[in-house]
Amino acid sequence: MAEELIISTSTDKEERYKTLVPQIEALVTGEPDLVANLSNIAAALRQSMEFFWVGFYLVKQNQLVLGPFQGPIACTRIDFGKGVCGTSWKEQKTILVPDVEAFPGHIACSSASRSEIVLPAFQNSEVALVLDVDSDKPADFDAVDQQYLEKIMRIIEGLL
Ligand code: SME
Repeated sequence: MAEELIISTSTDKEERYKTLVPQIEALVTGEPDLVANLSNIAAALRQSMEFFWVGFYLVKQNQLVLGPFQGPIACTRIDFGKGVCGTSWKEQKTILVPDVEAFPGHIACSSASRSEIVLPAFQNSEVALVLDVDSDKPADFDAVDQQYLEKIMRIIEGLL
């Protein structure tokens, strides 16, 4: 396992993701513990991409329960279909929200949050967990984030 994360100095976020994704793959290789891996992935994303909040919610029975994350404290449980995370779980797809105030039912864990992207990871064709990334800037996420974060979700699926 790498002991130090190499962070691209580029201001281009695609370049930063390109440096990050192979390191995430290396970080989790050989480690079977899911919590350990999700913890390092959250930390690597926060360190490289400087996200305001980044973390996981895991499907446990009929709710999403807060998992490893980096950033301010957050709500611990989210119901199916509620908020952006619960909607991603229900619709089984990535949800990109440029303006959280315009998203019906958005759950404001932090009043500083302005935009958000949530991506699901699947196990046996069912959502097992979601990755939630929040920004304190409006419209901070786009197709580039979606493309590279989805690559990370596919790496996570290999760990489930
Ligand atoms: N905003 C999310 C809740 C989780 S926090 O942002 C960390 C939502 O609407 O599902």
